[in-house]
Amino acid sequence: MPMNIAIDGPVGAGKSSIADLVAERLHILHLDTGAMYRAVALDVLRSGIDPRDGEAVAGVCEEADVRVRYENGAQRTLLGDEDVTGLIRTKEVSAAASHVSKWPAVRRRMVRAQRELAKTADMLIDGRDIGTNVLVDAPVKIYLTATPEERARRRYMQQMEKGDTTPYEQVLSALNERDSQDMNRETDPLRQAEDAVLVDSTRMTPEQVVDAIVAIVEEVYGK
Ligand code: DC
Repeated sequence: MPMNIAIDGPVGAGKSSIADLVAERLHILHLDTGAMYRAVALDVLRSGIDPRDGEAVAGVCEEADVRVRYENGAQRTLLGDEDVTGLIRTKEVSAAASHVSKWPAVRRRMVRAQRELAKTADMLIDGRDIGTNVLVDAPVKIYLTATPEERARRRYMQQMEKGDTTPYEQVLSALNERDSQDMNRETDPLRQAEDAVLVDSTRMTPEQVVDAIVAIVEEVYGK
């Protein structure tokens, strides 16, 4: 059985970057499942469909050929043969992904694909419903979070570095809106699995978070 580590948590908890670092330390792959929902969202936007229109979204999703492959250990996300890894990081796609991911037809397809991928290699898988739904039997489950204010502050700093001057208050309200959508949707809402270990990174450096997660993994799998 491959090693499977589930990491769930809200927007801006640093899941993706922390997961990259932990995967590197453990010499395993990192599957970013959010990227798969983002790829569907990109396809939906390109089709000119409203991400809130569940039926139309389900139609696009049925045809969407979302693939994941690894290049030098790094995930590339594809729509058919097109590498969309860079194109799915815009604000438009983020907002659309939050809507698209609430539709059961979309979730069914993505969850099935994620379970298949998890069987193929030792992987750390990050998302919203990995510990509660995709891999309920994962031997290690982490729920990584921080206060909304701290997550918004980190996101704000990242955006500033990229030259985006969106005010902090706006970043915080967009984050609260996505949290609320992810936590209150009917299908597979974001929540901490009962057997997940809570890691609150509000007052931790990225290095401390990585060390804490690696220690949890080593307790279960050994060094
Ligand atoms: O982690 P992210 O921001 O890249 O995720 C994009 C969207 O996809 C986010 O709104 C929540 C959703 N998502 C999900 O519903 N289930 C997952 N396993 C991963 C992401």
